[in-house]
Amino acid sequence: MKKFLVIGNPIEHSLSPKLHNYWFKSNNIDAIYEKKKLNENQIESLIYEIKKKDIDGINVTVPFKKLVIPFLDELSIEAEKTQSVNTISLQNNKIIGHNTDIDGFELSMKNTEFDIHNKKVLILGAGGVVPSIVFTLKKMKISNIIICNRTKDKAENLKELFHDLTIVEWGENIKFDIIINATSVGLNNNDEINLNFLNNEKGKFFYDVIYNPKETNFLKKAKKLGNLTKNGKEMFIYQAAAAFKLWHGIQPEISENIYKIMDL
Ligand code: ATR
Repeated sequence: MKKFLVIGNPIEHSLSPKLHNYWFKSNNIDAIYEKKKLNENQIESLIYEIKKKDIDGINVTVPFKKLVIPFLDELSIEAEKTQSVNTISLQNNKIIGHNTDIDGFELSMKNTEFDIHNKKVLILGAGGVVPSIVFTLKKMKISNIIICNRTKDKAENLKELFHDLTIVEWGENIKFDIIINATSVGLNNNDEINLNFLNNEKGKFFYDVIYNPKETNFLKKAKKLGNLTKNGKEMFIYQAAAAFKLWHGIQPEISENIYKIMDL
């Protein structure tokens, strides 16, 4: 039986095991997918288990997407460009790091009625998922990208990967067509993003990477004001499907049924 894992810290709330195990069953694949909470000093030995074929693949989540890189043999172009790995596989006896968050975000952005061409995008946050979002937007020919993070230095650091980003102060009043919440604010039901200019917008596109809760206060308020909104559930499902395809060579089912089973 093949064995797959998602590693992170915290990891209790990960939905990846439920999703991958469902797809194993529906595709008659003899495998199991589990979650494992890890400390940084355990990464190296765990990844080595892939080489020994004790583990067949690993998904990586917060806060390890960059930290796993030194222990891998090769990176895909996307993982290299974003310095972010969410999927690890063994190919020709080499441990390869991939980034399927990009596939996830791209498909989810394409699957919207909002016309994203030549639009101005404001990203809130500068954490682990932001390089993948920026990479994808650039791939989709969006060049006007502004980053606003509470800790400005962290946003400035992103310029090492993407030279032409605009960095602004947290709290600055910024005009945008599309806004993406990539902070962790909203994971708790009563979380509010303390940016007043968000209260005056309508006709814009508000995207939240968070999918649990289904509708953060950021999206709730935006919808009430007359904006188009979208949460991160499609990004989550699509990144998982891309990892599944990498490991098993099969495009798994993505349907309303899947969202229902996953309670998304
Ligand atoms: P990491 O920062 O370890 O990569 P993450 O979950 O990927 O973790 O990112 C958390 C993001 O949410 C960061 O951009 C963080 O801002 P800081 O860099 O200033 O920490 C942002 N964030 C978390 N709590 C926040 C808050 N109360 N207000 C604004 N931004 C917040």
